[in-house]
Amino acid sequence: MILLQSILAAIPLHATLASPNLQSRQDGLETFIAREQPIALAGALANIGGLNSSWVQGASPGIVVASPSTVNPDYFFTWTRDSALTYTMLIDELIFGNTSLRKTIEDYATAQAILQTIDNPSGSLWPVGDGLGEPKFYTNITPFDGPWGRPQRDGPALRATTFMNLAPVLFNLNETDIFLKIYWPLILNDLNYVGQYWNQTGFDLWEEVRGSSFFTISAQHRALAQGAILAQKLNTTCGPCKQASQVLCFLQSNFWNESGKYLVADINVNELSRSGINSDPILASIHVFDANATCDAGTFQPCNSKMLATHKKLVDSFRNLSWPVNKNAGPRDAILIGRYPEDTYYDGGAWPLCTFACAEMLYDAVAQFKRSGTLNVDSISLSFFQDLSPNIKLGEYKGTQMDGILTNVTNYADGFVRAVQAHLPTNGSISEQFNHTTGMSTSASKLTWSFASFITMARRRASHFPPPWGATSKVANTNLTSSQCRPSSYNGTGKYAPAAAAGAPNITLPCMVEVLFEVNATTQFGQNIYVVGNVTRLGGKLNDPKRVTVPLSAANYTSQRPEWYVDKWLVAGQTVAYQYVLQNGDGGEFVFENGHDGSRTLVLPKCGGGRMTTNDVATFGS
Ligand SMILES: *[C@@H]1O[C@H](CO)[C@@H](O)[C@H](O)[C@H]1NC(C)=O
Ligand SMILES: *[C@@H]1O[C@H](CO)[C@@H](O)[C@H](O)[C@H]1NC(C)=O
Ligand SMILES: *[C@@H]1O[C@H](CO)[C@@H](O)[C@H](O)[C@H]1NC(C)=O
Ligand SMILES: *[C@@H]1O[C@H](CO)[C@@H](O)[C@H](O)[C@H]1NC(C)=O
Ligand SMILES: *[C@@H]1O[C@H](CO)[C@@H](O)[C@H](O)[C@H]1NC(C)=O
Ligand SMILES: *[C@@H]1O[C@H](CO)[C@@H](O)[C@H](O)[C@H]1NC(C)=O
Ligand SMILES: *[C@@H]1O[C@H](CO)[C@@H](O)[C@H](O)[C@H]1NC(C)=O
Ligand SMILES: *[C@@H]1O[C@H](CO)[C@@H](O)[C@H](O)[C@H]1NC(C)=O
Ligand SMILES: *[C@@H]1O[C@H](CO)[C@@H](O)[C@H](O)[C@H]1NC(C)=O
Ligand SMILES: *[C@@H]1O[C@H](CO)[C@@H](O)[C@H](O)[C@H]1NC(C)=O
Ligand SMILES: *[C@@H]1O[C@H](CO)[C@@H](O)[C@H](O)[C@H]1NC(C)=O
Ligand SMILES: *[C@@H]1O[C@H](CO)[C@@H](O)[C@H](O)[C@H]1NC(C)=O
Repeated sequence: MILLQSILAAIPLHATLASPNLQSRQDGLETFIAREQPIALAGALANIGGLNSSWVQGASPGIVVASPSTVNPDYFFTWTRDSALTYTMLIDELIFGNTSLRKTIEDYATAQAILQTIDNPSGSLWPVGDGLGEPKFYTNITPFDGPWGRPQRDGPALRATTFMNLAPVLFNLNETDIFLKIYWPLILNDLNYVGQYWNQTGFDLWEEVRGSSFFTISAQHRALAQGAILAQKLNTTCGPCKQASQVLCFLQSNFWNESGKYLVADINVNELSRSGINSDPILASIHVFDANATCDAGTFQPCNSKMLATHKKLVDSFRNLSWPVNKNAGPRDAILIGRYPEDTYYDGGAWPLCTFACAEMLYDAVAQFKRSGTLNVDSISLSFFQDLSPNIKLGEYKGTQMDGILTNVTNYADGFVRAVQAHLPTNGSISEQFNHTTGMSTSASKLTWSFASFITMARRRASHFPPPWGATSKVANTNLTSSQCRPSSYNGTGKYAPAAAAGAPNITLPCMVEVLFEVNATTQFGQNIYVVGNVTRLGGKLNDPKRVTVPLSAANYTSQRPEWYVDKWLVAGQTVAYQYVLQNGDGGEFVFENGHDGSRTLVLPKCGGGRMTTNDVATFGS
């Protein structure tokens, strides 16, 4: 495949990479960052297939392995999200001048073109694109059919953005036609998915909560807005991109917790005994960051007051946990941060990537304030700034006054980086977590996303910013008020197609028919209903709690009509055995339905048959 062929001959190499040295935890920050940067880049690349990769033998070219760890935990899979965030970083590195990355970026395009066509437990590419929401695959590009939190709707959005970020590179080379031919079909599949499903719940980036996640919705909005701008440049159209204004309306109107003064991570959740304080919005803001954007842009930019308030809330929530690893920090110092304060995964340790994100967001914010020349301290951001500038008052700051405040913000950001440095092993390897008692690395070792998060943080600290993506544009700022928010969806049915020019196979999918699983099942608040069946996309096996993966929606549930439903496309003409399952709260035990000798049977229409509806009634337990 000839993609970036003549690329970048003209772009000077930004910096030569130093050879990795052992490093000390006492090194100054500049020294530490300069040493860690090549280690982190080499680490991320060593987890990608096809690159003489030392750590991930057997992974296909362009496939990002989350971590070489195969036991406790087994992360030897490829996630759409982690891969996209890693290649977003690599494409930025290419733009900054590292031309050696060209080949692996092409490999990524081919691998994703194939992955888009793989039939999997979430569905398939054709006819309704539901397979694009599958979160992870085996590293040889085959489907993972075990139980998992499905679907995860941030993946297609992040992947679309990753490829769209390549556009400026090809445009500069007068290779717009190549971009249109090779990348645009790949991007459009993902944008169709985003436009079609943004208004349905899915699992969050931590793969635990089913609902609407701030990170996911932010990534979806960026993808659609960026898609609209790019389509215009390509003289083509982007049907699903028209959903951008409604996605933004939803984002702006629903996530701000007015009494607590922070952006919550998840809404539309069934039952959640959590505060909603989470690194999720911080990661969202660094993803939608645009160096040209103003703080009141429609997207929640790093310098946005609500985002700064959320940053403080998050850090305070971890201060309140009084972790031994943070014991040397003063009450207003930067500390190690985890995903969210209620986390229990591997004892809910400190996450380097969340801690780096706290630093990166502040470097971004400082750059935005400097560019605008004004820092407006309002009632929402006041408490954030008071921690750093004790005498600060409401109002506008400019000139040297502003610079003084921003110096303190930068120093505070540096503190987060130092907090990670203090616990890194001397070889510079970055795991998923640090034990919050001992500070020892734990959970997955050599996590690709951890390495990528270091590099993006270090680039922003050095004022290396990716090209603006269009956060300042009208299309990214459509101004609907909350009363104008509407449920909406782009009908992508039939518009998904293998991205052949990028390397997708010419798949011939079996004929599919649509089945509406609709069941009256009286439930109590907090309970969930699932369907499981003996075909892959219904979990594959009856009476097995591990196979219960297809949730039904209670969106139309009323006391008069206790309806749960889910729409699935299944291979036409087959006979399917299925059953309904009740769950007592997210993460709770599964109770299989009463009666029917353990299962129901459905004979699907032949090819070309219309939608079938089950019209069932189910009861559970005694
Ligand atoms: C692209 O085309 C423009 C206008 O024809 C030309 O000035 C420029 O040198 C070309 N760039 C490359 C990289 O070929
Ligand atoms: C769908 O959009 C409407 C209008 O913004 C919103 O009220 C609702 O919560 C959304 N539902 C989901 C699951 O996104
Ligand atoms: C798009 O159309 C305009 C006007 O017809 C033309 O000037 C421009 O070169 C076209 N751009 C591309 C990428 O084809
Ligand atoms: C970003 O801002 C710079 C300087 O203000 C301006 O020259 C440039 O055109 C802007 N870029 C975009 C994509 O808006
Ligand atoms: C963290 O360290 C403590 C103290 O040694 C230990 O009890 C705990 O099991 C460790 N947790 C993990 C996830 O390794
Ligand atoms: C910066 O922080 C120092 C130390 O806390 C403080 O004394 C100083 O007033 C702060 N600067 C500004 C401009 O707020
Ligand atoms: C959006 O609407 C608000 C309130 O009407 C207004 O203050 C703001 O300037 C508008 N923003 C844009 C980008 O038009
Ligand atoms: C979506 O589009 C397909 C293909 O054009 C069409 O068959 C289907 O009826 C449409 N669905 C809805 C809900 O409009
Ligand atoms: C894909 O395969 C089908 C069936 O073999 C064939 O009819 C069709 O022309 C092929 N499409 C492409 C784009 O090669
Ligand atoms: C759910 O309710 C909406 C709005 O009344 C309706 O359009 C839709 O068909 C219903 N869906 C199901 C599966 O009952
Ligand atoms: C489900 O409940 C509604 C409302 O009571 C009723 O009209 C409908 O017939 C029920 N469906 C079945 C299959 O019993
Ligand atoms: C699923 O169960 C039905 C009904 O027992 C049976 O006819 C069908 O062959 C089974 N399908 C598979 C893939 O095992």
